[in-house]
Amino acid sequence: MNAPLAGQFLTLQEIVAAARSNLPPGPWSYLIGGAETETTVRRNRQALDSIAFRPRVLRDVSRIDSSSTFLNQKTRLPVMLAPIGGLESIVEGGAAAAARAAAQFGVPQMLSSVCQPGLEKTAAAADTLRVFQLYVRGDDAWIDDHVRRALDHGYRAFCLTVDVAVYSRRERDLIGRFVKPWRATAGEGAPFQSGLSWDHVKRFKDKHDVPLIIKGIATVEDAQLAVQHGVEVIYVSNHGGRQLDHGLGSAAVLPEILKSVKGKAEVWVDGGFMRGTDIVKAIALGAKTVGIGRLCGLGLGAAGVPGLVRTLELVEEEVRTSLGLLGVTSYAELGPQHLAAASPVNAPDTFSAFPLL
Ligand SMILES: Cc1cc2nc3c(=O)[nH]c(=O)nc-3n(C[C@H](O)[C@H](O)[C@H](O)COP(=O)(O)O)c2cc1C
Repeated sequence: MNAPLAGQFLTLQEIVAAARSNLPPGPWSYLIGGAETETTVRRNRQALDSIAFRPRVLRDVSRIDSSSTFLNQKTRLPVMLAPIGGLESIVEGGAAAAARAAAQFGVPQMLSSVCQPGLEKTAAAADTLRVFQLYVRGDDAWIDDHVRRALDHGYRAFCLTVDVAVYSRRERDLIGRFVKPWRATAGEGAPFQSGLSWDHVKRFKDKHDVPLIIKGIATVEDAQLAVQHGVEVIYVSNHGGRQLDHGLGSAAVLPEILKSVKGKAEVWVDGGFMRGTDIVKAIALGAKTVGIGRLCGLGLGAAGVPGLVRTLELVEEEVRTSLGLLGVTSYAELGPQHLAAASPVNAPDTFSAFPLL
């Protein structure tokens, strides 16, 4: 228990309010914003807000196990800190702060290749269960070098983010003239990023003996190709609505992808997951792990490392409450039978998860 902040933040709503008041306008807009009209951002929430629960009662839920596994290791929740570039603009220490919170609470961290203090120092910051995410901005030798460095520093799997073939237009950042240092040099790597293809995935699988995660799968067709290429983890994501505008919500495409993958790869998901109920919905649909992006940044923005630990504690409390009220004691008992289609009650957006703000 994280006693000092337990009294300060009783709800996730208060965490979000604290982050909003702490963060300067540039970093706040960077964290919250999406591409162009931010329709994909809203659809992520719309997809989640369109799922209702079907609770079962009288089922003895006096003991609830809300822990899970991640790459065969035990974790406190089926939640992972999603990769966030430029965390150093949100919290002192950047990814190292996130690593400390992840280790303290007991969830894995996926480190972004564009986050300070980098692969080696983040690994040294805490004894985390960690995986590494790469934006491909160099040639094959450059990729291989990152794989070697990641393996040397205890990262257990390697992730290629593939929904960034072209740089998106994030209008909040453009309007705010928020020039991000980590994007200033990104142009040099852009041709590698847009030139990426399934041939690179094939080469990676042939060359490296490390679990491969493909992040940014949003269709059944691409999920099938990932399975055919022997990818271990299909990470369903639209980059939190920060890349292609007018996409579908992640939770809306998740069921058809799960159905087509048929257990031949693990399926992880992110996009709009802000509350314990959201996590439970994803697991009930069949996802193995849920990534949290903005929520992680909000926890760090609210109160640094303890703020993120407190955020995770509150998510855990919400997950346990939902499981108990659904009449299940573990994720194994949870399934689509606990879900039903429904209409959202609030206009969906990032903050529809926090209506009291
Ligand atoms: C500020 C910010 C920076 C991000 N940077 C990266 C990144 O470096 N690499 C990556 O694969 N995804 C990145 N993402 C996307 C997240 O990993 C994740 O897919 C997304 O945030 C999930 O949606 P959510 O924020 O609604 O939880 C970033 C997201 C945010 C909000």
